[in-house]
Amino acid sequence: MSSNRTFVRLRGFRDFAPADFALRRHLFSTWRRVALAHGFHEYDGPPLEPLSLYVEKSGEEIVGQLYRFRDKGGREVALRPEMTPSLARILAGRSRGMPKPIRWFSIPQLFRYERSQRGRLREHFQLNVDIVGEAGVAADAEALAVAIEAVRGLGLDESDFVARVNDRRLVTAVLEGLGLSGELHAPCLAVIDKAGRAGEERTREALGALGIGGEAAGSLLELVADGSLAQLRRRFGNDARVMAALEPLMEHRRILDEMGLAPYLTFDFTIVRGLAYYTGIVFELFDRAGELRAICGGGRYDRLLERVGGEALPAVGFGMGDVVLGEILRDRELAPPGDPVCDYFMIWVRPPQRRAALSAARRLRAAGRSVSYALRPLAVGKQLRLAARSGASRAVIIGPEEAASASATVRDLATGRQESFTIDALVAGAQGAGGSEPRSRPKTG
Ligand code: HAM
Repeated sequence: MSSNRTFVRLRGFRDFAPADFALRRHLFSTWRRVALAHGFHEYDGPPLEPLSLYVEKSGEEIVGQLYRFRDKGGREVALRPEMTPSLARILAGRSRGMPKPIRWFSIPQLFRYERSQRGRLREHFQLNVDIVGEAGVAADAEALAVAIEAVRGLGLDESDFVARVNDRRLVTAVLEGLGLSGELHAPCLAVIDKAGRAGEERTREALGALGIGGEAAGSLLELVADGSLAQLRRRFGNDARVMAALEPLMEHRRILDEMGLAPYLTFDFTIVRGLAYYTGIVFELFDRAGELRAICGGGRYDRLLERVGGEALPAVGFGMGDVVLGEILRDRELAPPGDPVCDYFMIWVRPPQRRAALSAARRLRAAGRSVSYALRPLAVGKQLRLAARSGASRAVIIGPEEAASASATVRDLATGRQESFTIDALVAGAQGAGGSEPRSRPKTG
């Protein structure tokens, strides 16, 4: 029985038709190239993990967004919403004996049940780059440098994006300077994290709900409205602990300056990161126009590995999503051309030449070229029309004479110019050794 039901894609999920896939491949290959160039090794883990990994390690916001269910064996499981807990779990089982620091990267697909909107979906891919086993600030600088280079590699520069940097230890020093007790620090960080989206009134209310009012609330609201270093110094310049807590950030900046990346940096007190596990310098990358959500977020998380039962190893890293970057590249017309390109389209004039054509196709493919052809017997004219529509650069035509002399007529489909080659010369040219080299593919991945 047939049904007329149509099926729609789930909200917040994407199909990747070839043009979309070209952009995805471009992002992934750039990310991979940059991560490998910085000495990172690629890894992956399973997309489904025990629910408890996130309940205990990620923090409330992400737990509220989990795709979670009970599997047929009665286990509570979740689709991974982020990679960091998996990385900690994987390393907990194998980091002992590994040379440190560990430089690992991954490009997982992640799932979060969020309200979908521009730049925010229910699945996305994320470049994750992490350095494990180094507590010094040079590791923080290196991680941020990889993030900046990964975006620069896509053709964007300091006029397009900025890295906003802060340090959770500095925020803690500020909260202490305001006389707020330790148990208020985590909820206060959550209020600061949401302040940009919430606006002043709701932030004041949220602080009030924590029992924070008067001068402390006033100072925090000032810092949230203007998170600059100048503002911080104006208000806390005389607080020795706050000023001392600035030192790692200053060294971080010096190192990134030596790398030539200072133009990408700005201090921002409102960047504290929503995830529970961060302990030190934190950062987010944003488009300068400020139209979109963060391109990337990360920071130092020195206690997570220990908390999943591993070695007590300091760690720092980031996650960079494909959705916001994809929007920016499309807006700036930096997305690669999506048309699939084929090098050769084989044409045989009559069925007896099929053998010669298929054999030549096989040799050209083995030489690294892409070859297509009609999958049913067609007149030569129709095959040529198919060739033109296929996007191929050249048609390779084999008739009775060519088949008898192991040669082919090669037509440039852009200019219509034709030349004869032996199949051997054509294959040698395809390998880059001779003069019958076809136009090369645009570099999209
Ligand atoms: P995150 O800030 O939750 O951090 O995500 C990092 C980036 O992933 C965001 O800046 C954004 O570009 C992208 N992203 C997140 N959620 C979505 C979504 N629903 N739709 C589209 N893009 C999204 C983490 O996940 C940390 N685990 C990163 C990390 C690695 N920290 C240390 N190592």
